Amino acid sequence: MICKILMPEFLSKSNNLTQSQAAIGVFDSGVGGISVLQHIHSLLPHEHLIYVADSKHAPYGNKTPAEITERCFALADFLIAKNVKALVVACNTATAAAIDDMREKYTLPIIGMEPAVKPAAEASKNGIVGVLATTGTLKSAQFAALLESYGRNVKVVTQACVGLVECVERGELGAENTKALIRQYCAPLLAEGADTIVLGCTHYPFVRDVIAEVVGKKVSLIDTGAAVAKQLKRQLEESDLLNAFNQPGEVQFFTNSSAENANKVIEMLWGKSAEVGCL
Ligand code: DGL
Repeated sequence: MICKILMPEFLSKSNNLTQSQAAIGVFDSGVGGISVLQHIHSLLPHEHLIYVADSKHAPYGNKTPAEITERCFALADFLIAKNVKALVVACNTATAAAIDDMREKYTLPIIGMEPAVKPAAEASKNGIVGVLATTGTLKSAQFAALLESYGRNVKVVTQACVGLVECVERGELGAENTKALIRQYCAPLLAEGADTIVLGCTHYPFVRDVIAEVVGKKVSLIDTGAAVAKQLKRQLEESDLLNAFNQPGEVQFFTNSSAENANKVIEMLWGKSAEVGCL
């Protein structure tokens, strides 16, 4: 892609901003976290948002926790240099691998996310919950702890969706290869009788319609984007960091993708035109 040097108005004035007027930094291994960004933008329309897609290093799902933590530090440093007041790790895999080390290293509020096992266990009528996520998330100690806390009274069936993140990164949401992967990964969950399926990776809400078509109307799909936005709002309120100004917030994107269509994919997922700079 052709890079632009971006300096939105709110960044150029950043020296004069109070902390509450600063932007919120949101990042993911790639474009998946835009599904979380949408919830944040609708709940907090006056907040400036800076989204970073680490697409050059996606997927994180097959990387070691140490490799993911290194990437998270690099992205956090990039966003902190832009004076952000809070960070949202819009990635289940990165949260599982790095959130503890991030909270130890940085002092600003950091909001992470985890697969929605708790709400799914509460919502399931037959007590069988499926979880679609990355290999990294499913293998993590954080996920084991989540099952220990909330998965005791239900049967939890997990499925790693290798290759699905890449389909979303390429913008191939309705393509036949994407549908084939979704059919393959949903089959074991349906065979076990899951009536509730957790979308445990922020890329998956972008193929929610295809997943819904495959699993049928009787199966509920749950993700955590809205809950993360609410948690962010609560934390900003508690830290007195909500932007009190009544102007619409600016949204800024950065990517290190080398794909020709990187901007187009971001705009397609965001649903409108977007200013995209280079990471
Ligand atoms: N969006 C990331 C997540 O929520 C995808 C991880 C990956 O890049 O494999 O887990």
